[in-house]
Amino acid sequence: RAVAPFSVRMPVPKVLQPQSTKGDNDFYVVTAKKAKVEILPGTRTEVFTYAGMFPGPTLRVRTGRTAIVRHTNDLDMGTVAHVHGGCTPASSDGFPTDTLAPGKSRDYVYPNKQRAATLWYHDHAHHMEAEHVFRGLAGFYLIDDPAEAALRLPSGDYDIPIMLRDARFDDKARMVFEKDDFQGRTTILANGKPQPYFPVAARRYRLRFVNASNLRTFTLRLGKDTQVAQIASDGGLLAAPAAVRSWRMTPGERIEVVVDFSRFKVGSQVILNDAEVGPVMRFDVGRSATTDTSRVPDRLSTLPALPTATGKRKIVLSFDRTNGRFLINGREFDQKRVDTEIKLGTTEVWTVTNDSTNFAIPHNFHPHLVQFRVLDRNGRPPAPGEAGVKDTVAVGPGETVRLQATFGPYIGKYAYHCHMIDHSSSGMMAQMKIVA
Ligand code: C2O
Ligand code: CU
Repeated sequence: RAVAPFSVRMPVPKVLQPQSTKGDNDFYVVTAKKAKVEILPGTRTEVFTYAGMFPGPTLRVRTGRTAIVRHTNDLDMGTVAHVHGGCTPASSDGFPTDTLAPGKSRDYVYPNKQRAATLWYHDHAHHMEAEHVFRGLAGFYLIDDPAEAALRLPSGDYDIPIMLRDARFDDKARMVFEKDDFQGRTTILANGKPQPYFPVAARRYRLRFVNASNLRTFTLRLGKDTQVAQIASDGGLLAAPAAVRSWRMTPGERIEVVVDFSRFKVGSQVILNDAEVGPVMRFDVGRSATTDTSRVPDRLSTLPALPTATGKRKIVLSFDRTNGRFLINGREFDQKRVDTEIKLGTTEVWTVTNDSTNFAIPHNFHPHLVQFRVLDRNGRPPAPGEAGVKDTVAVGPGETVRLQATFGPYIGKYAYHCHMIDHSSSGMMAQMKIVA
């Protein structure tokens, strides 16, 4: 069913307020439940939600303050919440088999001892994450810190998170989920609305993009090749802004850009385009009522140091066409098996290869717990926008990406997987154990 593009306004998901606060702890309450929401104009679609919202409410936290989130599962199947990019103790990280049974509640503890970044939270239930995220279990998790606030980047009403994804609907506006259905998911949603418009003032905006699609990669550009400043990747600010005219995001990745809409005439309509699907959304530029005192400084941050690596691993992502299984190092996920054991605090270089000898298919790679740095892609240094702090990286057919991470500060078991989550749901996931 076709909806005329730019017929609905893009909402900005509400920020969830803590129920209570005590010392350095903020307590939040989130219930996962079904809800009927308007996605396609004039119709209602049943979705899975956090707190009745599609996408879920935004958690906005500060570095150094602990967020304790009480999740209640009012859906009729097991769920488990994961903060993507979060440096979280294993017990609260949302291991795929740590599911919360229907009707049950539990507290997840997030220490937020990490730099400012655009993270997101989503379901991770074993074998079911693809369908659960597709049906709506995803929301923003934004971390602020004083160093970033001091930069005077656009903030408040001019700091807009945008969750992009694709979806498929039938003629009754019901969501249709089938695994690996990359051809069928042709409706593009921004913050839960199809190809919306969004009014902006002629001034600078910080746009925080999350690709929450199961399989789709977005390659975005604004208007006719507008140059924008990429200021952040998955794990927060780059060292310096990178001037880009297009930016690519595989599922799970985040890119933040600052766009100066004062470069456009008041009254103009600026389309955000994807290289494959065309229009994703439209920005409608209006007069700015106030003076813009924001800026994009030449230096944004100091990236965390890269300690000497003492360990090495090889990770091979592959697809077995004969049985349709997605594998890491030749195996499917088994929660009872530890694939990688790492001593707490060790710095390692992981060489991640997308083996396309049997079938060429794009993948990406996401380890829990750590943020990493991309050392090289096919032997060449990463582009400036990929040289910052990352937790998810594209690994195209036949490509090899080397990344470096320091494993800690928590011990316990954590997942690593392809974030094309139809693949991780079909086995492309493994388990590492950080040991003392
Ligand atoms: Cu976005 Cu294992 O997760
Ligand atoms: Cu994959």
